[in-house]
Amino acid sequence: MSQRGIFISFEGVDGCGKSTQIKELRRRLRSLGDKLIITREPGGTLLGEDIRKILQRTSDTPKISDRAELLLFTASRAQLVEEMLEPSLQEGHHVIADRFLDSTAIYQGVARGLDEETVAQVNRFAVGTCMPDVTFLLDIAPADSRLRLEARADEPLDRFEKLPDSFFNDVREGYLKLAKAEPKRFVLIDAMQKISAISDQIWETITKRYDGLLG
Ligand code: TMP
Repeated sequence: MSQRGIFISFEGVDGCGKSTQIKELRRRLRSLGDKLIITREPGGTLLGEDIRKILQRTSDTPKISDRAELLLFTASRAQLVEEMLEPSLQEGHHVIADRFLDSTAIYQGVARGLDEETVAQVNRFAVGTCMPDVTFLLDIAPADSRLRLEARADEPLDRFEKLPDSFFNDVREGYLKLAKAEPKRFVLIDAMQKISAISDQIWETITKRYDGLLG
């Protein structure tokens, strides 16, 4: 039986720089010859991609209710875990997840204001025991991340990105609280640092913690 892969997730407000860091980590892990998959949420399976399209539509009237939104995100994740994540980890692939259950805890639980314990229960039901080994939280003030989003002239803003800064302040505060509550899993990173300084910090964490599982 192969050794289980490492499950790494990235979290943070929109525009925090996750995609750039995920590309860099992928490059470094691949250079060691390690097998690797990258997931984004919602998506990653046929069902998940369909759910992504539904959630990205901006013209729905009446709008998707907060509870329906919670169930759509978690339905996509339940399918991803069963169809792809768990089998891949068992086969020894590392997984880099561009968002996982913490996004639901924060965006739907904290920022949308749904009952946080209910959201936690739905989250647990959807993922079972498949939890990230390590979660990198890229922390940035919403005013700074908005500047980055606006600089991406080629990509239209999605449903969430159009929300006011107050929503993202709640998201940021929620993430920081969660990271404090789970200090073993979360690694808090100042996302205003230079790209190379951030990727070095991430790589140092991975190589220190999981030396025996690399290469
Ligand atoms: P992305 O831009 O990082 O792909 O994320 C898509 C948006 O969906 C982002 O604004 C965060 C939001 N989101 C949730 O509200 N709940 C979730 O569970 C996930 C995975 C994303």
